[in-house]
Amino acid sequence: MDKYFVPVCTSTNDLAKFFLEGGKKLPLVVWAKTQTKGRGQQRRIWVSEEGGLYCSFALEKQDSKKALVLGALASYRTLITYVPCKIRFPNDLMVEGKKIGGVLVEQTSSATVIGIGVNINQKGFPDDLKRYATSLFLEKGLFLNLEEVLDILIKNVQDLHLRDYESLFSEYEKLLFLKSRCTIHLKGGRGVDCKIEGVDKDLLIYTELGKFPLEEVIWIEWER
Ligand code: BTN
Repeated sequence: MDKYFVPVCTSTNDLAKFFLEGGKKLPLVVWAKTQTKGRGQQRRIWVSEEGGLYCSFALEKQDSKKALVLGALASYRTLITYVPCKIRFPNDLMVEGKKIGGVLVEQTSSATVIGIGVNINQKGFPDDLKRYATSLFLEKGLFLNLEEVLDILIKNVQDLHLRDYESLFSEYEKLLFLKSRCTIHLKGGRGVDCKIEGVDKDLLIYTELGKFPLEEVIWIEWER
């Protein structure tokens, strides 16, 4: 897989798309030390100060659900060598109840872009994030070479990419952390306060109040 580095960009997802439009071949990964317009799910800002790993994989076009599961699992496998962590459905990497990483899947006409952000060496976060975000440095006092972590992540993406969706999902499902209650905000404005009991391989969410397809979900607000 070709690997490209830039010190700073708007978003590595945008840069991966830009490289593809410019004729670079699949698969590729781009990474940056900072992003000026890092984005998360639901168009939220992904704070991208120096110290974090910000990267995007452009892979052959595939189903968004498979890409989400692949991105979450590859991030999990990378992080677990340093710290006990869990996946909070669908795409949050969590350590001790705080978010340490996330995955953003976007499609182009010819490729699937899996953006991954992992908090590695950050010594702190802006006030509004402090209670909810953590880094490997804050958890373990580790100060890591970002490219070495990226290379482990690349290896994990490559290994997982070879596997079929059923086997990826069965590994992903076992790692899901579903204990807290949440509000599922659905398209159309409805919010459902519930506990997620399980998720099936179509990422259909089972709750005590019924089933909700992930496609209908705008965001899941977890009880803090
Ligand atoms: C989320 O949890 O909401 C997803 C966060 C994804 C952040 C990564 S950082 C690298 C890539 N570039 C972006 O702009 N976003 C993703």
